Amino acid sequence: MLNNKKIAVIGAGNMGKALIGGMLSAKLTPPKNIVASRRNEEALKELRRRWSIHAIADNKKAVKGADIVILAVKPQLAQAVLAEIAPVVDKKQLIISIMAGLTTTTINKKLKKSCPVVRAMPNTPCLVDAGATAICAGAHATDKDLAAAEAIFKSVGKVVTLPETSLDAVTGLSGSGPVYIFMVIEAMIDGGVKMGIPRPIAAQLAAQTVFGAAKLVLETGRHPAILKDEVTTPGGCAINAIHILENKGLRSVLIDAIVTATNRSQELSRLYAD
Ligand SMILES: NC(=O)c1ccc[n+]([C@@H]2O[C@H](COP(=O)([O-])OP(=O)(O)OC[C@H]3O[C@@H](n4cnc5c(N)ncnc54)[C@H](OP(=O)(O)O)[C@@H]3O)[C@@H](O)[C@H]2O)c1
Repeated sequence: MLNNKKIAVIGAGNMGKALIGGMLSAKLTPPKNIVASRRNEEALKELRRRWSIHAIADNKKAVKGADIVILAVKPQLAQAVLAEIAPVVDKKQLIISIMAGLTTTTINKKLKKSCPVVRAMPNTPCLVDAGATAICAGAHATDKDLAAAEAIFKSVGKVVTLPETSLDAVTGLSGSGPVYIFMVIEAMIDGGVKMGIPRPIAAQLAAQTVFGAAKLVLETGRHPAILKDEVTTPGGCAINAIHILENKGLRSVLIDAIVTATNRSQELSRLYAD
């Protein structure tokens, strides 16, 4: 799919490594075509040992000669890293950024180049090939660029394409979403423990229940409300629990969480644009 393109991953931490692993498993490009960069020497050695890829501390060297540059450093470091690589970035290179809050306009501005930029908002389940990623095209990116980015993120989960105006909302929904679900799982475990189930077993049951419910929604394509109604016996246990969840505002709390996280993402985008 990527026709043996050379790919540089700048900031090969958790997400960068997930993408490298995904690209190699999907055989999008051979290991010799991947160069990863980060500062820690031990971690660089481990990258070489694990995947037989190139791994170096010099970001500029990593960028030179790459067809695709994936930017995966923390957003707080974006300013410095973009300034560092700007002199060697070529107009023809496709830049794919997963840095939260950095708009494609900001990236083009900081690189001082009208190169194609695709911005992506993945999430941590990419680490287990179950990610949810939204991608959007910057002003100079073509459909071919989007297709290349789509292939990369498909190697670690599901991908949707949206206009960039939706990326803050994606950050609030699926980018930050695993955290909400971890809290739900944790609370369900505590509920099970309170009712006498040993914690390790409660943990398995709670996590598998969330996994199974998500699988049912995705694989049947049916509306969650219908799936919920179907398992709600009149006068039964689930409807009594639903009453409590409605009373305590479970839905409103989750909606509010997504609104707040979206607003924060917008604030950060403005901050990083300066
Ligand atoms: N985690 C998420 O859920 C998630 C979701 C969506 C988007 N993102 C985005 O993904 C990006 C990476 O997140 P992450 O969780 O993978 O962070 P991470 O594990 O900290 O990875 C970032 C890596 O960048 C390296 N680094 C730091 N300074 C560098 C420099 N000057 N040059 C090259 N590499 C440098 C660090 O390694 P060294 O210390 O060895 O240099 C580190 O391993 C962030 O921008 C975040 O916004 C994350």
